[in-house]
Amino acid sequence: MAEIGMIGAGSWGTALTWLLGNNGHHVTVWSAIKDEIDLLNENREHTDKLPGVKLKDDVIFTTDLKEACSNKDILVLAVPSPFTRSTAKQMKDHVRYGQLIVSVAKGLEEDTLDTLSMIIEEEIPQSKVVVLCGPSHAEEVGKGMPTVVVAGSKDCQDAKYVQDIFMSDVFRVYTSDDPYGMQLGAALKNVIALAAGIEDGIGYGDNTKAALITRGIAEISRLGVAAGGDEATFHGLTGIGDLIVTCASQHSRNRRAGILIGQGKSYDEAMKEVKQVVEGVYSAKSAMQLAKKYHVEIPIIEQVNAILFDGKDPKQAINDLMCRDKKEEI
Ligand SMILES: NC(=O)c1ccc[n+]([C@@H]2O[C@H](COP(=O)([O-])OP(=O)(O)OC[C@H]3O[C@@H](n4cnc5c(N)ncnc54)[C@H](O)[C@@H]3O)[C@@H](O)[C@H]2O)c1
Repeated sequence: MAEIGMIGAGSWGTALTWLLGNNGHHVTVWSAIKDEIDLLNENREHTDKLPGVKLKDDVIFTTDLKEACSNKDILVLAVPSPFTRSTAKQMKDHVRYGQLIVSVAKGLEEDTLDTLSMIIEEEIPQSKVVVLCGPSHAEEVGKGMPTVVVAGSKDCQDAKYVQDIFMSDVFRVYTSDDPYGMQLGAALKNVIALAAGIEDGIGYGDNTKAALITRGIAEISRLGVAAGGDEATFHGLTGIGDLIVTCASQHSRNRRAGILIGQGKSYDEAMKEVKQVVEGVYSAKSAMQLAKKYHVEIPIIEQVNAILFDGKDPKQAINDLMCRDKKEEI
């Protein structure tokens, strides 16, 4: 049995707490939000974000970051990506030398273009980071539906340790030595999910969706490989796998935001209605900066940026994609 600190108590932190509890581990859950900790203490369930998923009696809920970080075998950082740096900064003084931190959020920081593992390593230099991602909606993990993800680290022993801790008969974990490529895939697929939602909102069909997914992964791989990721990673669970789930799923908040925009809502209206952090919006800007740095064409992501930030008409954006210069596919 391992002692685990779950830093972040949103949908994903809650689903992973349920999974790790079922695997026989002891979890202490931290949230920055006192009301959230009170709610969890009272119900042993996140009735707002993951209703129906009951957590074990021995799970501890706290707003004390020192309590959540001290004497743990593993810390899991599960706050949404815009809060990764600020949360890591607060954790620093409570983290021991050589502490394993599992990064499970998805995003790419604007301007620095740092992945989340880079941010954690920068803010908590005494830690060792393993990335865990793949096609995995909290709502399905919390119901024990078979899910397959990847644990990635340059240190294969660390990745194997995390694989052992998380793996169960409903949660299969592969390992990878390309955490950078994994994180680029995980962040960039959210931008394509916005495009898939926009297409759904306009009322286009399966042909358009299939085109967005396949041309989307072509775009992600092109940029990811230029930036230093391994091409095979983008063809795996954290690349095409995560892209498929997020473009097709009712659970994807990025797709939901896209649907609202495709239906004619403004950016502000869509964000207000979705309520949760729509990470694709942040990653859309970072992707443009990354593409500029590596001189890579990313036409779909470019159009998503134009719709989100310049108010471009979504139908016109898809029309512009359709009317680009003739090309060979591969
Ligand atoms: N939900 C999923 O199915 C899922 C699956 C895989 C990965 N992820 C990734 O995990 C991360 C978390 O996703 P989520 O679905 O749990 O998000 P969420 O929107 O449910 O998380 C919100 C939580 O973030 C925390 N929070 C809010 N403000 C904060 C602040 N200022 N500082 C620190 N923490 C704060 C609170 O615990 C809040 O409940 C994201 O990067 C997401 O992409 C989510």
